Amino acid sequence: MYTGVSWLILLVSLCGTGGLFPTGSHEYEVFRFALARQQDVPKLVPQVDMVDTGSSFSMTYAFCSQFSKGVYAILGVYDRRTVNMLLSFCGSLHVCFVTPSFPVQTNNQFVLQLRPRLQEPVMNLLEHFLWSRFVYMYSADAGLSVLQRILDTAAERSWQVTSVNLDVLTEAGFIKLLIDIDVKKEFQIVLDCELERLNSILNLISAQRRNLKNYHFLLANLGFMDLNMTEFQKLGPNVTGFQLVNWSDPVVEKIEQDWLDFDSKDLKLARRKLRYTGALTYDGVIVMATAFQNLRRQRIDISRRGNAGECLANPPAPWGQGIDIQRALQQVRLEGLTGRVQFDERGHRTNYTLSVMELSPTGTRKIGYWNEKRGYVNTAVYKPVMEEFHGLQNRTYVVTTILEAPYMMLKKNHEQFEGNERYEGYCAELAAEIAKHVGFVYRLELVGDGKYGARDAQTNMWNGMVGELVYGKADVAVAPLTITLVREQVIDFTKPFMSLGISIMIKKPIKSKPGVFSFLDPLAYEIWMCIVFAYIGVSVVLFLVSRFSPYEWQGGDSDDEDETLPSSSSRRPQNQQKDPPEHSNDFGIFNSLWFSLGAFMQQGCDISPRSLSGRIVGGVWWFFTLIIISSYTANLAAFLTVERMVSPIEGSEDLAKQTEIAYGTLDGEAEAPPTNKLHHRSKIAVFEKMWSYMRSADPTVFVKNTNEGVIRVRKSKGKYAYLLESSMNEYIEQRKPCDTMKVGGNLDSKGYGVATPKGSPLRNPVNLAVLKLNEQGLLDKLKNRWWYDKGECGTGGGDSKDKTSALSLSNVAGVFYILIGGLGLAMLVALVEFCYKSRIESRRMKELINAAMSTRGGGGGENGRVVTHSFPKAGAQGLPCMSKAAGMGLSSTGM
Ligand SMILES: *[C@@H]1O[C@H](CO)[C@@H](O)[C@H](O)[C@H]1NC(C)=O
Ligand SMILES: *[C@@H]1O[C@H](CO)[C@@H](O)[C@H](O)[C@H]1NC(C)=O
Ligand SMILES: *[C@@H]1O[C@H](CO)[C@@H](O)[C@H](O)[C@H]1NC(C)=O
Ligand SMILES: *[C@@H]1O[C@H](CO)[C@@H](O)[C@H](O)[C@H]1NC(C)=O
Ligand SMILES: *[C@@H]1O[C@H](CO)[C@@H](O)[C@H](O)[C@H]1NC(C)=O
Repeated sequence: MYTGVSWLILLVSLCGTGGLFPTGSHEYEVFRFALARQQDVPKLVPQVDMVDTGSSFSMTYAFCSQFSKGVYAILGVYDRRTVNMLLSFCGSLHVCFVTPSFPVQTNNQFVLQLRPRLQEPVMNLLEHFLWSRFVYMYSADAGLSVLQRILDTAAERSWQVTSVNLDVLTEAGFIKLLIDIDVKKEFQIVLDCELERLNSILNLISAQRRNLKNYHFLLANLGFMDLNMTEFQKLGPNVTGFQLVNWSDPVVEKIEQDWLDFDSKDLKLARRKLRYTGALTYDGVIVMATAFQNLRRQRIDISRRGNAGECLANPPAPWGQGIDIQRALQQVRLEGLTGRVQFDERGHRTNYTLSVMELSPTGTRKIGYWNEKRGYVNTAVYKPVMEEFHGLQNRTYVVTTILEAPYMMLKKNHEQFEGNERYEGYCAELAAEIAKHVGFVYRLELVGDGKYGARDAQTNMWNGMVGELVYGKADVAVAPLTITLVREQVIDFTKPFMSLGISIMIKKPIKSKPGVFSFLDPLAYEIWMCIVFAYIGVSVVLFLVSRFSPYEWQGGDSDDEDETLPSSSSRRPQNQQKDPPEHSNDFGIFNSLWFSLGAFMQQGCDISPRSLSGRIVGGVWWFFTLIIISSYTANLAAFLTVERMVSPIEGSEDLAKQTEIAYGTLDGEAEAPPTNKLHHRSKIAVFEKMWSYMRSADPTVFVKNTNEGVIRVRKSKGKYAYLLESSMNEYIEQRKPCDTMKVGGNLDSKGYGVATPKGSPLRNPVNLAVLKLNEQGLLDKLKNRWWYDKGECGTGGGDSKDKTSALSLSNVAGVFYILIGGLGLAMLVALVEFCYKSRIESRRMKELINAAMSTRGGGGGENGRVVTHSFPKAGAQGLPCMSKAAGMGLSSTGM
């Protein structure tokens, strides 16, 4: 691609400079131009040789002829085939060689390399872009130093570098390579070669390819602006490269203008733009001139004395003044076309800055700079390309949307309306507000396929509202459209107008109606049973203890002696006063039961155990009673006054922990909002557990759409929970029959945004409008209106107030029932007792009458006594310790 006919130009006079350049080369022309501009430096006489830089013989010949003519320094270009020979000549003869050619890795101080090295900048950029897999295309004409460096690093960091030597590649081979790269999707490419080669490669690529949108090229070349990328740019690749010369610097501009005017009489030479290699040559001449002047000023004699040196002498005779000249050149410091010109002791450029440029589909710009001290510094601000909004076209914009309550609904009487008036809902009002703020006329249109928008796996086409935007059928989408990565890649979203997350919907737990016997609730039924058994047990123990304990037995002299047991009952004739004292015991079985009951009811009775054992039983029972009654009282208040609505599930953890309540979400195949992706991709343990449950559940817990999920929640009697967007959850909670509720917080967070096609002029103003509406609080107001004001369930607050208020009759009705039942029972028992007693009495009466009839005597008094006293006596038999009053009554009967 590049023929190596090169020329050597040497400048010579008493103290001349030399040059060696390829025929007709840009460098040579610039060299001439630069010398012409250095007229003020006398005695700088050029001695030019045009040589084939690729031929060792002609290079040697030219070099030696220049050396023998006594040049003091040589400016020229070399070729990779002759560079080593040149280096050794310079080193042994102490002749300085100033070159704009590619840098070589050498410690030979007599070679002053004007071109900065690129290894470090390229490495820094690769690190900045985090490339670890790329194609590296190089050509050996620019040296292999970058290749060396990249391969070393690749081995170190296990980068995957495909290196391609462009020198051995034919055009057909290159085209094949391009196809190969495309197939392997190796979209990151480093191109390392000289300008001409680079230009032809870029042209070749643009001729072959129609689209380079995914590609990123890194050009390891210092002349980014010298490339003609007009065609290349149209393919849309990202290109990054380096720029050494700042062509917009006023000083540089002036010189370039001079260059274009220079020799303009000679129209045979169509002037070409100055390139960076030319700028380097120009700087080389300036460096030489400056060094020469410095030497003269220091009055160092550098003229060749006597015979000019013999180049091929053996051993070589170095030129005595060579080292002085080398020092003078190396110490030059100036601001040239290529920025700061300064050399280190090995003759390499130092303290320089490279601009890092980028060609993106929108144009060329500087994105940063590189220097030795700081490496690559990114200065670009990636501000989104602001399409200025120069007013909207005079047309009606199409707003696509979807029917979804309460966002967008048809009015009940929508037949009577036209256009946008047919719709109502959150998004209908939002669209109206946005249009008012932005100032456009719009028409609401329902999306044709009724979908939100997903990419079809087979055709790769977008459907739903996203599709309408992508394919230009609509200008804006105002709908509950979730902002996702894949959608954001093809359309633009505004800031979210509503934030939401996945939440749990369950059926509202049924408020349990207070039962008639709800006063039993504070204690479990087992406890009631235990209490009953304890009561009986205690009574029996008390009875037995009293039987055995001698202290419980009383002598007949006891004044308040009372007979309780029918066995020892009152068949005691009144007139037998002087009988030996009869032993009696208060604690018969009935009295024991009565005592325990009285104690349990906190009432007590007028008998109490006298023996220690009996008192222990009594004390323990009182203590038991105390604790049970206190616990009951404490619980009763809570149970009777608060009807608790105990929700079985409080959040996702509860859900994940249990298996009784099934839970599910939208079927993965159904599109709509991607609810289940949450679980799918989640790394959080709880969600992972939930997801694995849902996948394995049988019957399936997935539903086809939200409606089906809600119906399932309602029908499953609390055995199914559904995961859906919180906004929808809140909405359904407010709809009849008001039997669902949202529990727990949101499981994730996302937003609904208004969408516009990519690059739409509406994007920015709509975004600003949404932000403004949000700041004005209008979005909250809209939400309140469509969720709660229009809710059908009333506010939740009033309900709960009722719940904590006073006891209702139904809470305590059971107590009344028991009271009434007890009273009735008592009257019944009294009746039974009356009948029973009166029968017995009447039988006795008969006997008495019969007796009286048979034996005449004054039995009237006897009769009277019996009639007067037997009834209370009979009543007292089972109830000796009812109360003090009763006891008194009884003791009076006993007299
Ligand atoms: C191209 O550059 C733009 C920014 O200018 C960036 O957003 C985009 O991702 C880049 N493309 C590639 C393929 O690197
Ligand atoms: C760049 O190349 C195109 C064609 O390849 C040509 O039309 C255009 O003039 C060139 N631009 C420059 C500045 O050379
Ligand atoms: C070039 O120089 C001008 C003026 O000194 C400066 O404004 C501009 O930013 C520079 N451009 C680059 C790419 O460094
Ligand atoms: C680097 O160049 C700047 C001017 O661009 C100069 O002020 C500074 O002294 C130089 N640094 C060294 C170490 O020579
Ligand atoms: C907009 O279009 C209407 C008719 O479509 C026309 O009457 C009106 O003048 C136009 N306005 C502007 C500013 O072009």
